[in-house]
Amino acid sequence: MNKTLRKAVIAGNWKMNKTPSEAKALIEEMKPLVADADCGVVLCVPFVDLPAALEAAKGSNIAIGAQNCHFEKSGAFTGEISGGMLAELGVEYVIIGHSERRQYFGETDVTVNKRTLAALDAGLKVILCVGELLEQREQGITDEIVAMQVKVALQGVTAEQLSNVIIAYEPVWAIGTGRTATADQAEEVCALIRNTVAGLYCPNCAAALTIQYGGSMNAKNADELVGKENVDGGLIGGASLKAADFSVIVAAASK
Ligand code: 13P
Repeated sequence: MNKTLRKAVIAGNWKMNKTPSEAKALIEEMKPLVADADCGVVLCVPFVDLPAALEAAKGSNIAIGAQNCHFEKSGAFTGEISGGMLAELGVEYVIIGHSERRQYFGETDVTVNKRTLAALDAGLKVILCVGELLEQREQGITDEIVAMQVKVALQGVTAEQLSNVIIAYEPVWAIGTGRTATADQAEEVCALIRNTVAGLYCPNCAAALTIQYGGSMNAKNADELVGKENVDGGLIGGASLKAADFSVIVAAASK
């Protein structure tokens, strides 16, 4: 398998941060800093920031994403947003199955699968998040947990649709904790994800899949993480809220 067969993508997950005017200002600040990137650059912003973000990113190499979408096209689902609504705005990406959605909002592997299918059906590119809890790592069941999350999430996704999927490996214990997985730990699980996808689809499909690492990735550790064979960029939380730090991570993935 060869890193040149796939594209590295650095995606920012702003979580519940930045108002529309703040989003516009931060994207304006980031644009010149990431203009020469030799990797994909994505910013996943809060729903209400999407119009301002799309406008600010217009004509640049920054793609805009949302952080969730519902699995139905429309209906009585108060507070939810459909994939079609996002696509009509011009949104390109959507994060599905982030551990914070699983932890605080009752997301399960099954609803992650339903949302993945709906988002792909709406023409969006999906950043699908998987990752083990600290207890699971300590019990030595990381591989089983992550392989199962991948298999359930991709159920019914065709090989053609897989080209619109990025998988983000985010160990839950490394998110927002400052405790990063070592580059070897990240590589090990990203390789496992690639092997799992090879088994589900085909070796070439797996070789072409972008697999990110996420969890306290920052300007200091990005170089080592994205240098690993199976780590194709990152999903960045805290450090994506600072233009200077984010651009250093983008530069690391552009090497
Ligand atoms: P941090 O980079 O803040 O740890 O967040 C990672 C994350 O959850 C990205 O989706």
